[in-house]
Amino acid sequence: MRIIGMLLASGIMTWGAEGYGVYQKHCASCHVEMMEKTEVIKHLHTLKAPPMVEVSNRLKENVIISDEDNDVKRRVIIAFIKDYVENPSVQYSMCHPMAIEKFGIMPSLKGKLSEKERQAVAEWVYDRYEGTPFR
Ligand code: HEC
Repeated sequence: MRIIGMLLASGIMTWGAEGYGVYQKHCASCHVEMMEKTEVIKHLHTLKAPPMVEVSNRLKENVIISDEDNDVKRRVIIAFIKDYVENPSVQYSMCHPMAIEKFGIMPSLKGKLSEKERQAVAEWVYDRYEGTPFR
């Protein structure tokens, strides 16, 4: 019983931390976690991609769900992120045209992340910046 309890507890803990772990391993080399707009402008020449705080907020601004159901919106954005990491494309990118010109399109991470990892990191990108605007 104790062992099962421990396994369950550690399972829940890694589940919560998993999204951030995936981010650190597969995204952080290009997307910094937090940066203010003025800092982005100052450090533009050293950045490889828009900071994740910008990515998350931009998706939330651009994706409009007609009935303002936040749960639907969350799922749509998570599905978009999950797909985008495997199939990045200028056609689907919601990045600012100037950002795309500066950074180019994201390279595909196809085959590097499992379905579970993509789900976890996509949820993390959405949830991490709830109430954290990019400014
Ligand atoms: C090698 C660098 C690199 C890595 C690694 C990388 N990205 Fe990106 N990503 C970019 C660049 C550059 C852009 C901006 C151009 C674009 O939209 O494709 C971008 C854009 C995005 C966008 C925005 C799409 C949009 O339309 O607004 C999302 C979402 C995203 N990345 C998620 C991720 C996630 C999640 C990971 C890790 C699993 C990741 N990226 C890893 C370079 C990277």
